[in-house]
Formats: sequence, structure tokens, C-alpha cells
Amino acid sequence: MMPWNDLLRLHKQDPDCRIAALFAADPDRAERFSRLFDGMLFDFSKTSLDDARLTALIALTEACDLPARREAMFRGEKINTTEDRAVLHTALRAPEGTKVLVDGQDVMPEVLETRARMARFATDVRSGAFTGAGGRITDVINIGIGGSDLGPVMGTLALAPYCDGPRVHFVSNVDGAQIHDTLAGLDPATTLVIVGSKTFTTVETMTNAATARAWMGRCVADPAAQFVALSTSEDKTAAFGIPPERVFGFEDWVGGRYSMWGPIGLSLMLAIGPDDFDAFLQGGAAMDAHFRDTPAAENLPVLLALVGIWHHQICGYPTRAVLPYEQRLTRLPAYLQQLEMESNGKSVALDGSALNGPSGPVVWGEPGTNGQHAFYQLIHQGTSIVPCEFLLGARGHEPELAHHHRLLAANCLAQSEALMRGRPYEAALKEAHAAGLTGPRAETLARHRTFTGNRPSTTLIYDLLTPYRLGQIVALYEHRVFAEGVILGINSFDQWGVELGKELATALRPILEGQESAVAKDGSTRQLVAFIRAAHS
Ligand code: F6P
Repeated sequence: MMPWNDLLRLHKQDPDCRIAALFAADPDRAERFSRLFDGMLFDFSKTSLDDARLTALIALTEACDLPARREAMFRGEKINTTEDRAVLHTALRAPEGTKVLVDGQDVMPEVLETRARMARFATDVRSGAFTGAGGRITDVINIGIGGSDLGPVMGTLALAPYCDGPRVHFVSNVDGAQIHDTLAGLDPATTLVIVGSKTFTTVETMTNAATARAWMGRCVADPAAQFVALSTSEDKTAAFGIPPERVFGFEDWVGGRYSMWGPIGLSLMLAIGPDDFDAFLQGGAAMDAHFRDTPAAENLPVLLALVGIWHHQICGYPTRAVLPYEQRLTRLPAYLQQLEMESNGKSVALDGSALNGPSGPVVWGEPGTNGQHAFYQLIHQGTSIVPCEFLLGARGHEPELAHHHRLLAANCLAQSEALMRGRPYEAALKEAHAAGLTGPRAETLARHRTFTGNRPSTTLIYDLLTPYRLGQIVALYEHRVFAEGVILGINSFDQWGVELGKELATALRPILEGQESAVAKDGSTRQLVAFIRAAHS
């Protein structure tokens, strides 16, 4: 408890410590509270951390023995204790020559073989050597949900400038509207369908897969020939009718939300090609090496975790916003929502006891500058403090539109500056007077136009969003979640909280179909069932 108490005490000593004053007192603050690693700069100087607070946060990592837990993960120990599994998504991006043992068995030969099979298949599809009934594959549909969707869709959008393969579409929702609208524009004879599901039982995915197969079967004699499966469950993929040569398997030590590096990333590989996919893996592997070998005070994922802990567990800020000033990272907030909230949204510690304090925070966000014209009002003047995590590429991929990019960057920098500096009442009053207002009217308006400032943010800045850079960013956040989970005593790799809703949905289906009565349900559920049934009658 000592480091937690120290942190609470340090916060209590000066809860309203002005970040701007920290800068005024220390001309080197920006540099001292930033870390540069492999082309990316993490600047956490616009937070209320000072030397003592950072030292106490680092003591937390020692108290929970983060280095030993980290080693246990990389070494393939079964740290996902509730599912008795190792946690080895890092093996999926490990370079050739690495050895990773699970139960005494090196898993790397199989990982590398699957990686090579994926690359051969992707090359064949992209070159036209693999065809559909109507010739060259023009479109790929990835059917999957959660971790079997968010990583590939986020990555494909992020790396649009590198996409030179078939068009890739994503269907996740069981809402028939999504598959309907996706299939509407496609030719079944030149479409490849990827069914990505770790378990191959997820009802949304299996329902969409069956619909896609029926659609293809209406004009293609052998639809299974244009289906690919990505799963840990070969018997289920066989039962669905997909032959082993088009099944790309992986092991249960890859968590769904950590799976875009292996077979689940096939749609991304098809879009950008095996070489760029390799660069993505290399970026992830570089972050792995950094996370594994770097002391806490210099370690980007650890520092990101510590800033998060400071804001949520110590300062009590309930949410954090992820704000990429990079339109192509439009799905990064959604991706991080699953990564962070499914991993660390728990009330029970590893040993089964109740968690002592808050679990991971609510994570949300949107790309800038769009968010500025939507919810930034609350971030600047609302009563709730929202720590903001800005991401920014120093350059864009469109040199001919460099003036757009300068505006984008100026806006990103302006937001973190405005959040920190604010605008005092006196300045707002002066402005009101300058605009010709006087007396109570000027004072009232000045109060509306006052910004309290002192709102914390961090900025992750890098040169250009390349495949390598995206790999670094995703691995950075993965390890941040792990470090945060270890410090909080959470198992970040199970997700029991999603089960109850699934069970109840299964039970509600026959009720909605009218085969069973809703009488045992609560009044609200009965009312909603009645409304739906009435709409169908
Ligand atoms: O319901 C949650 C979840 O299990 C996620 O953890 C997972 O990413 C998603 O469903 C999809 O699971 P699967 O890949 O097995 O279809």
C-alpha cells in the first residue's frame, strides 16, 4: 500500500497544482517529462506530474513487480490464470530466430509457418493466381466481430496509402443492414469471404457467414472455394465446409483483442501486401523489445500506464479521451475501447478479492479536428476533467496538401495549449470591455468566456503513419494496458463480463420468435418484447 499512500498524499498536498506554473518553474520541463523512442516522442509534460509524483508512480511498478510479470508474459507462462492460458501475442510478431516456449514446446516454428502461408496466399490473391469463379478477386469481406474485426478494420483504414490490393470490406454487426449493404455492391464471383473468429462460435459472425455463403451460393457453384477461415478451432471450420488449405489457425494464447498480428490480420495483409504487413510486425516487435528491456522511467508503455493511473486512480478523473489528429486513425478509439475496457474493466483482482480501487477508466474519442466541433466544449469548460491523449503525425501522406496538414497540426497543438493555459476571468472581462460591454453584462459574459485551464493532456508525436509506425503504436497501447493491469492487480486477458448478455440473448431469441413466453422476464423486458412482436404482427 505504501506507494499508493504516497501518491494519494502527494496529490492531496497540492490537488490544484497549476501545470503552467510547473513550466514556469522549470525551463527544461518539456524535455524532462518527454521520452523519445525510435522516431516517436511521448510528451507528458502537460500533466501535473513532477519529480516526486513520477518517482512515487515508478515505485508502484516495483511494488507490483512489473518486471517479473512482464518476463512471465514474454516467456509464455500461463499468466491468464482464469483461463489457464499463456499470453503470447508478442510471438506473432517476433522475428525469425526467436524461441518462445509454451509447456516446454517452441511455438515459433508454427507461427512462422502460418505467417509464410498467409503471405503466399495473399500474394496469390493480389497477383491474380488465386481466382474466384469469375476471375481475379476484386473484393474481400472480412466477417468477424470484436478482436476479429476492430484490429483489421482500424489497420486497413490507417494504412490506406499502402492499400494496393483488392478492396476490403468489414462486416461485424449481426444487424442484417450491414451485410445487406455490403453485399449489395459486390459480385459474388470475384469476392473472397474471410470468416475470422477465434472460437468459430460467435453468433454474429456465424450468422453473417451463413448469409454470405447463401448469397455466394446463388451464383457460384462452389462457394466454399471462395471462403477462408481464421480460427483456433479446426474442427468447427471443417464443419462449416472450409477446407484445411484455406484455414489459418492460431493458438488459444492469442487473445481476441490482441490478435491482429497473426491470421486475424489476413484482410490487412491482403490490402497492403505481405511486405508492408511485415513492416507492421517489425514495428510491434521493436516496441516489444523496448518494453521488455527498458527501465520504467524511460519505458513508453510503462509511462503511458503511469500517467493513466495518476489521472484515474489518484486524481479521480473518470474517463480519458484518445484524440488522433490523423483522420485515418478514425477507428483507433474504438479499437482502444475494446483493448483497454475489455482488458481492465474488472472489479475483481487476480486472487479473486474485490479490487481496492477503481478499475481501468472509460476510454473514448474521435479524430481531431472533427471532435473540436462536437464534444471539446465539455473538455474545455465542463465540470468533469477529461485527460486527453493526442496523437499526431508530423507529416501527412499528401505533400500537395501540406497546408491542410499544417492546419491540422496547429489545431492539435492549440488544443493542448488551450487546455493547459485556459483563459482567466480577468482576460475574458478585458475582452468584453474591449467589445464595448460594461457593468454586469460584461461580467456575465466574461464568466461564460472563462476557461479554467489546467486540464491535462499528453501528446504522442511521430513522423509519418507508416505500417512500421502503426505496429509501434498498437504494441505501445497493448503493453500500456498490460502494465496498468499488473499495477491494479487485474487479469487483463479474460473477459467474463461479456458472457451474461450472450446467454440472455440466446434465451430471448425464442421469446421474440413467439415460441416461448416472456412471462418470467421483468416488466421492462416484457414491454419491449411486446413492442417488437407487435411490429412484426
Ligand atoms: O464477446 C467478446 C469476444 O469474446 C471478444 O473478446 C472477441 O474479440 C470477440 O468476442 C469475438 O470472438 P471470436 O473471435 O471468438 O468470434
